[in-house]
Amino acid sequence: MKSIILYASKYGSTKTCAEALAKKLHGDVELIQIANDTIPNLNSYDHIILGSPIKMGTIDPKIRAFCKEHEEALFQHNVAMFICSAIESQIDVALKASIPQKLYDHIHPIQYVGGIMDAKHAKFFDKMIINLAAFSMKKEGKALPQIEYGNIEALANSINAQ
Ligand SMILES: Cc1cc2nc3c(=O)[nH]c(=O)nc-3n(C[C@H](O)[C@H](O)[C@H](O)COP(=O)(O)O)c2cc1C
Repeated sequence: MKSIILYASKYGSTKTCAEALAKKLHGDVELIQIANDTIPNLNSYDHIILGSPIKMGTIDPKIRAFCKEHEEALFQHNVAMFICSAIESQIDVALKASIPQKLYDHIHPIQYVGGIMDAKHAKFFDKMIINLAAFSMKKEGKALPQIEYGNIEALANSINAQ
């Protein structure tokens, strides 16, 4: 089995999830950070796995652009996806706002893997959003998100079984 994980990550949590997933997948796994690396020919892979954070209600613009550009190849492959975000219930709405419904229906499984909201290294605007979100989550008695390693393992098991 040969898999490629293509991901975008600004503050590193989606990268951490991509690396954790790569360790759990059977066979050869290639990790591609979409902003930095050259995208290889997708035809040589059995599985394509996309990883994106949600920011301001949508998936990463580079992942969105990748989906648009490689739509035909995606329909010819098994495609899975993992999403990092603060709020799990937002992922369906965010994905449906970001990619065509037909592609959304093709991607399986789509797995929430948690996220990290750490304002320490964030730029000014992002810091403001993170602090606001953290404040309102605290007020509502909700725990801050964390990486859900159990969900990453479940995703790997499901891809390995395909
Ligand atoms: C500017 C900004 C906007 C965000 N918007 C959302 C959002 O709309 N919904 C959500 O559930 N999480 C949101 N988050 C939380 C991120 O999805 C989470 O921090 C994720 O782990 C970031 O991934 P990265 O570390 O790979 O960049 C936002 C975070 C930032 C910094």
